[in-house]
Amino acid sequence: MKNGLVTIEVLQQLKEIAGEEFVFADEENLRHYGHDETEHLLYLPEVVVKPRTAAEISAIMMLCNQLLIPVTPRGAGTGLSGGAIPQLGGVLVSTERLNSIIAIDERNLQVTTEPGVITEVLQNEVKAKGLFYPPDPSSRGSCFIGGNIAENSGGPKAVKYGVVRDYVLNLELVLPSGEVIWTGANVLKNSTGYSLTHLVVGSEGTLGIVTKIVLKLIPLPAYDLLMLAPFRSLEKAGEAVSAIFRAGFTPSAMELVEIDALKITSAMVDSHVVPITDDIEAHLIIEVDGNNMDVLLSEMEAIAELLQHYEAGDVLFADDAQQKTELWKIRRRVAEAVKMDGYTIEEDTVVPRAELPKLIRGVKKLGIEYDFHAVCYGHAGDGNLHIRIKKEGIPNSFGNETMKEILRSLFELVKQLGGTISGEHGVGLIQKDFMDIVFADANLRLMRQIKKAFDPNNILNAGKIFD
Ligand code: LAC
Ligand code: ZN
Repeated sequence: MKNGLVTIEVLQQLKEIAGEEFVFADEENLRHYGHDETEHLLYLPEVVVKPRTAAEISAIMMLCNQLLIPVTPRGAGTGLSGGAIPQLGGVLVSTERLNSIIAIDERNLQVTTEPGVITEVLQNEVKAKGLFYPPDPSSRGSCFIGGNIAENSGGPKAVKYGVVRDYVLNLELVLPSGEVIWTGANVLKNSTGYSLTHLVVGSEGTLGIVTKIVLKLIPLPAYDLLMLAPFRSLEKAGEAVSAIFRAGFTPSAMELVEIDALKITSAMVDSHVVPITDDIEAHLIIEVDGNNMDVLLSEMEAIAELLQHYEAGDVLFADDAQQKTELWKIRRRVAEAVKMDGYTIEEDTVVPRAELPKLIRGVKKLGIEYDFHAVCYGHAGDGNLHIRIKKEGIPNSFGNETMKEILRSLFELVKQLGGTISGEHGVGLIQKDFMDIVFADANLRLMRQIKKAFDPNNILNAGKIFD
């Protein structure tokens, strides 16, 4: 901890920069901004600042860079890898007041926005103009688009439409030095030098603070259809996933939820839309979308038929908007529900799609070996499996040796299967000890050198991704 660097003089200067009413050092605010959704971690910053403009953020960065004060940028605090946790104390910069959608360019299918806009608000604004911004993390009703940029978020639609990085055209970025740059241009193709834009996306707030974002949009598909397929075997559900793609379909969502997760979440949201019977181990939630309803109907039928080869039970077709909304509500709230139920440790493993059954089998085996209980859910179509772990007496993986050993075994399996540690949540604080499993020394050296090029004094979100 470097606490103590935020002196009365520094507080005074921060107030001059951002305005007295936007600088907070009271216990309640420090506690609120001392955690995100990661495990049960809490590290208090010394001060919370809520600037309104890139110019104010630039002045804050210049001040902190000069005095070597750690700065932690934060969006809505919904992250699951500890990216927004101020574990070194210092200044926490919240982007919540940079919350305007600046312009929707209907001629070019682009939107320019500030980072503190809630993702779903942005999606709805562009939808009203017949446009579509697909990346839809489960927390889209509360997370910020800026946080999505920092973590390169995905969500259910990524399987057909790609992740955040595929939609970011250009970023306004405040560097740790206080300089403000644009990383690219508002164009669909760009081979002009290194792509700083793509480097900053997914850099977890370690290279700069994003203050404006230009996103690519696409036309909104007219229809979608949703079905829920129960499976007697979790592994069979995993096998069915790759079979669907091999058969030539590209669903707009292909989600897996293990039965325990579904039971816990259905109870929490008080929903009975999913029939829960003892013989079922998992469900697949499958969505198709497009502009031709007849095509979609025949795709759904063909997929349902294919699932029968994988011992699927009776498929439920969501027949109205309300049922769809309810199914998605259950799916989107799994993380929150199982956390409340004691599954506090979340992993974000990703393997080549066809290796999913092996990963699932491996997780269950590790559970027996190390005596923990796990529920699996997530973006099966992407091979991106969220594994929620409940281990008696151990709420956090961060700083716990037993959990470190367990996670090392898990990630070694993931690596053997050709996968990696995080598909969409980032490395942050809690996965950084495992980077050596998936990267050679040379990779890590390059990453550290990149960090150093942007942030020579290591003041911005230091200790995230690597020490
Ligand atoms: C989800 C979040 C946790 O898929 O990534 O629900
Ligand atoms: Zn997810």
